[in-house]
Amino acid sequence: MTIDPPPDRRPENPNFSSGPCAKRPGWSYEVLANALLGRSHRAKPGKAKLAEVIERSRRLLGMPDETLLGIVPGSDTGAVEAAMWSLLGARGVDMLAWESFGAAWVTDARKQLGITDLRVIEADYGKLPDLGGVDGSRDVVFTWNGTTSGVRVPDGDWIPADRQGLTICDATSAAFAMPLPWDKLDVVTWSWQKVLGGEAAHGMLALGPRAVERLESHTPAWPLPKLFRLTKSGTVDRAIFQGATINTPSMLCVEDALDGLRWAEEVGGLPALIARSQANFAAIEDWVSATDWVDFLAEDPATRSTTSICLKIVDPWFQALPNEGQAAAAKALASVLEEAGAGYDVGAYRAAPPGLRIWGGSTVERSDIEALLPWLDWAFGRVKAEREAA
Ligand SMILES: Cc1ncc(COP(=O)(O)O)c(C=O)c1O
Repeated sequence: MTIDPPPDRRPENPNFSSGPCAKRPGWSYEVLANALLGRSHRAKPGKAKLAEVIERSRRLLGMPDETLLGIVPGSDTGAVEAAMWSLLGARGVDMLAWESFGAAWVTDARKQLGITDLRVIEADYGKLPDLGGVDGSRDVVFTWNGTTSGVRVPDGDWIPADRQGLTICDATSAAFAMPLPWDKLDVVTWSWQKVLGGEAAHGMLALGPRAVERLESHTPAWPLPKLFRLTKSGTVDRAIFQGATINTPSMLCVEDALDGLRWAEEVGGLPALIARSQANFAAIEDWVSATDWVDFLAEDPATRSTTSICLKIVDPWFQALPNEGQAAAAKALASVLEEAGAGYDVGAYRAAPPGLRIWGGSTVERSDIEALLPWLDWAFGRVKAEREAA
């Protein structure tokens, strides 16, 4: 058995997790020095910091003035569920699901909310469902970027401009790294722990005018926990969208989120953030096209995510393994990379087909992706050689 010697250069930052994602280049604990610790988030300086997160996020993302943006508890899950619990039930619902997170929202709608006029438009890992099947007279819930399959919607052209239903979009692994058509999205959610490399626990919830209108005209048939309550006496609680959070946020996380936003502005704003992610994807794309043992899990190039870049192993030896053998070999590959200190958290999501998932969001440097790629070849060669010899 011959195993090639390992490459000599490791990525400077070997963090390629799809969440929490890599901190921005140059991040250190110093950025937290001005955190408002031990003070009330409802005191003037605390509220100002929360409002600053909202304002900087709005500006960076180019959100329309009339769209409300608030900080909500429970990270992206909290934001999506607050929207689903508050808005659904007024009309039929189309749920799009092509990977684990979309499937989780289907479970919420069907089993928790008990919505009966529900259509699930599904596809397997690697594919997008038939977007043409979405009916604009119904509400639709979907993820912009399916983090666990690396399949994203290519654009919002499939969403009717004259729709009567609401579009509720989980954009947590897309926001800041991909353009979002605000005119087509009535609700958009994300968390701090993704593209800007912030901390988990807090979610962002954007509500367009049609979503606000629904909030003020529809009373859900199910109980609404305090954490999901976005209205007060039948009208939208605007204070939430000015920094008066529903419950207590972590001011340490707030400080860190502000650092990420300021960094994003310094590097050139949204176009630069998108370009950084696209450059990371391009480096992987070049390598995939020159490498015979891997391919993208996303079949259609137009649907390939530039953030959660999911790869399948197509080597004939790997393909011939039984399912458990494939899962074990892919896990071993990720472990070898971790032990070598060359790449952390690059294994596929637990519910996805065995393979690799490399985060290429905006905080990741292309030079680090380029440094990782020879390690992937080396680690695969080593796992294959060891398993063939066993
Ligand atoms: C598409 C998508 N939705 C929801 C979530 C859940 O996010 P959080 O754990 O921040 O609530 C994730 C996390 O990876 C995700 O990728």
